Amino acid sequence: MADFRLRPATRQDFTAIRALIRETGINPFGLEWSRFLVAESAAGEFIGCAQLKPHSDGSLELASLAVIPAWRGRGVARALIEAQLSAAPRPLYLTCRAELGPFYEQFGFHPLRREAMPPYFQRLSRLAEIIGKLLQEQMLVMKTGEP
Ligand SMILES: CC(C)(COP(=O)(O)OP(=O)(O)OC[C@H]1O[C@@H](n2cnc3c(N)ncnc32)[C@H](O)[C@@H]1OP(=O)(O)O)[C@@H](O)C(=O)NCCC(=O)NCCS
Repeated sequence: MADFRLRPATRQDFTAIRALIRETGINPFGLEWSRFLVAESAAGEFIGCAQLKPHSDGSLELASLAVIPAWRGRGVARALIEAQLSAAPRPLYLTCRAELGPFYEQFGFHPLRREAMPPYFQRLSRLAEIIGKLLQEQMLVMKTGEP
């Protein structure tokens, strides 16, 4: 039985969301609390989050997915992703480190070539290519079109 639950974020979650995103080192921009779904333990502790982030080119991104270390490997991210996928229109995009590609493929996402990306992700991907060369890390842009 699940020992956590999901709920829409409230303004009071913002500090915990921002702290977790900072700790995990993922994109710290655009953390608008009202777009987030949060996971909390049976004791009411904040344990993870994910948001649906709209971009000016009309694309929508599954973003800011993070789970606190003590709760990893227990299906919290899976629950957050599945809940967001059940509510989100398609297509839906995300960006991730290349090593997480297989993780997101489980949920129907596939990597995109740059020509197939919406303008926001093309710009990000060009920037990530330059930074990635310096950091020796590759970024993927992924998409799911299936409802
Ligand atoms: C990536 C992250 C969100 C996964 O959270 P989690 O709650 O541990 O993931 P889950 O327990 O729901 O795992 C779901 C499935 O993916 C698998 N999985 C987890 N991490 C994986 C990885 N790095 N690569 C491949 N598969 C992975 C699990 O084995 C599990 O499979 P199963 O259900 O068949 O057992 C978590 O490690 C995290 O917060 N990392 C730091 C932030 C981050 O990198 N976020 C992603 C930004 S793109």
